[in-house]
Amino acid sequence: MSTSRYAAVIFDLDGVITDTARYHYLAWKRLADGEGVHFDEAANEHLKGIDRMGSLELILASATRAYSDAEKLALATEKNEHYKELIATMSPADLLPGAVAALDTCRAAGLKIGLASVSRNAFTVLDRLGITDKFDYIVDAGTIAKGKPDPEIFLKAARELGVAPGDCFGVEDAVAGVASIKSAGMYAIGVGDPAVLTEADQVIPDLAAFRIP
Ligand code: G6P
Ligand code: MG
Repeated sequence: MSTSRYAAVIFDLDGVITDTARYHYLAWKRLADGEGVHFDEAANEHLKGIDRMGSLELILASATRAYSDAEKLALATEKNEHYKELIATMSPADLLPGAVAALDTCRAAGLKIGLASVSRNAFTVLDRLGITDKFDYIVDAGTIAKGKPDPEIFLKAARELGVAPGDCFGVEDAVAGVASIKSAGMYAIGVGDPAVLTEADQVIPDLAAFRIP
């Protein structure tokens, strides 16, 4: 039985369980360089947790010309093709320290476990990491109308897990993701820098420091 006051945990994927945040950055960086648009790690911080088209819009906001919808779609597709190349060779060795232990600790404590990533590549990444079966429910990003920071994705995960939002906690590396968890009415564990993830209820440097709240 769980000794926690929570009945479910909902994890983000990119940047929490595996360092795909790095691959997203590299793929966007190549695209931005190709378009002559300034883009760096600081700008990338604002893209974490933001869906593909939303991320592209943010990058192109500093472009010197306007892009048609067709051009935007082509650029987003180009970025995704590069990203897919980068993740193609992933394996269980790409799990971040503490990730499997955190999932197993939650399972042993009797918590329901969900995954809330807005990435349409999440199923592929989980499969390559070999951890798909560790989740009770994985949100299909294609079914989500509003990305993070909207609470929709975390609320959907809670609903599908059959747990009230107030009895869930979320784990996120992105500012937008922490905002999504908080507006869903859940307790938020931030993974990263406390100076960045200011809305989180607690911040840990990585999942090696994960403890069930
Ligand atoms: C995650 C990442 C974002 C990425 C988004 C969409 O939230 O943190 O950086 O833009 O997923 O990913 P996708 O694989 O669908 O392009
Ligand atoms: Mg993330």
